Amino acid sequence: MRYQLFSRTRPLICRRIRRRERLSFDDDLMGEVTRGARALVLCPDIKGQRYDLDPDERLEETCGLALAIGVEIAAATIVNVRTVRPNTLFGSGQVEKIETDCELNHAELVIVDGALSPIQQRNLEEKLNRKVIDRTGLILEIFGERAATAEGRLQVELAHLDYQQSRLVRSWTHLERQRGGFGFLGGPGETQIEADRRMIRQRMGRLRRELEQVKKTRSLHRSRREKAPWPVIALVGYTNAGKSTLFNRLTGSDVMAEDLLFATLDPTMRAIQLPGIEKAIISDTVGFISDLPTQLVAAFRATLEEVISADIILHVRDTSNSAHQAQKKQVLNVLSDLGVVDGESGESDIPIVEVWNKIDLVDEERANELRSIAETSDDAIVISAATGEGLDGLLDAVSSRLTGEAQELELKVSASDGRKLAWLHAHGEVLSDELADVQGQPMRKLIVRLNPKELGKFQAL
Ligand code: GTP
Repeated sequence: MRYQLFSRTRPLICRRIRRRERLSFDDDLMGEVTRGARALVLCPDIKGQRYDLDPDERLEETCGLALAIGVEIAAATIVNVRTVRPNTLFGSGQVEKIETDCELNHAELVIVDGALSPIQQRNLEEKLNRKVIDRTGLILEIFGERAATAEGRLQVELAHLDYQQSRLVRSWTHLERQRGGFGFLGGPGETQIEADRRMIRQRMGRLRRELEQVKKTRSLHRSRREKAPWPVIALVGYTNAGKSTLFNRLTGSDVMAEDLLFATLDPTMRAIQLPGIEKAIISDTVGFISDLPTQLVAAFRATLEEVISADIILHVRDTSNSAHQAQKKQVLNVLSDLGVVDGESGESDIPIVEVWNKIDLVDEERANELRSIAETSDDAIVISAATGEGLDGLLDAVSSRLTGEAQELELKVSASDGRKLAWLHAHGEVLSDELADVQGQPMRKLIVRLNPKELGKFQAL
């Protein structure tokens, strides 16, 4: 086993979202990851299994996830697994070694970057005498903390319950206990596990109904927006790529942007102005990650519907991350799951512009190389959301994609017609504006880029 000690153990200050009503059996089954707990992070490298990221990158990402829930990383390591043991995943010698390392590093929690079966999780907990969580549990914890809107919370809780349902085996202590025949908890002889399952099913049913209601309201909002003539720009990208930082830069708002995975969970929308476009809606969405738990892919499909109805997608990429190619692949996979990108041809129904972010963190030589590649491409813009480099170019590129067939027109407007002049400045891209004398009349001669729709509106003025 290779051990790495991480220095990124700064305490995290996160918004603590007030938890919704808790199920009585919740703590019993899942427990809550204690903030500040010391964790041993394990990244199993299973022989014969294909991974998009190499083991070091996976380990680093898992540590990022662990930090995002506020645990302190005592140590982190890659564990080579030659044969998967159905009962414990790791071999018995490895389990012993893990236990010793927990002791040595004073770790109270073990995080396994992979999917553990309920049995494996229970057995590991028993053998290590510590709480063990897997990747799905970890991501669910983060989502549970971050979801801020009603819909986000309902979706996360639903996903959490779905996960718990499969983990009911963990309640081994009361598995055999029989519930008495009081009727209100089910028929006589109903076991605890059956009662728990029934309660989860009922709660899931209630959540689904509530979600339906919230979705109806959201689609109402969306259809109202569709009626409005404003184009929608969706920001997508791997978690931590810089979407929220870019969103804040472009809109002058204050969406949580932190060096934390999944800082943004719920889609946030704001209006912005672009060259030649009076108003566009920009929406920041949940960050993507490899191996997103299936429960969450389904849950967030609805939230990501905002992406499906966008007029343009900005795919924000962290060019400073060594795994950015693999991250791009993951993002395209999700977009293809959403039906936006064709899985085979890679073609997209909605124009996608790649935003090569964090260029300030890339070494000069590579940065110049990327800049010159992007210059000759219609689909990539190099930026730094932190320093502001390339943002004007990005806005121009988005604007010209949205206005598509905009034409350059020479227009003459009476110099005293303030209304028309103001309109042209607000709706078109004014390339030049000069005073001219036309048959003794003071006129303004403008060269303006307008798309046919706007030209129609101008002519109607
Ligand atoms: P999720 O919410 O996880 O999806 O992340 P996100 O894509 O919204 O990323 P966010 O904007 O939260 O940025 C992540 C981290 O990267 C923050 O610490 C930002 O300050 C930092 N960051 C974003 N853009 C840049 C950039 O251009 N340069 C540098 N140096 N840092 C950046």
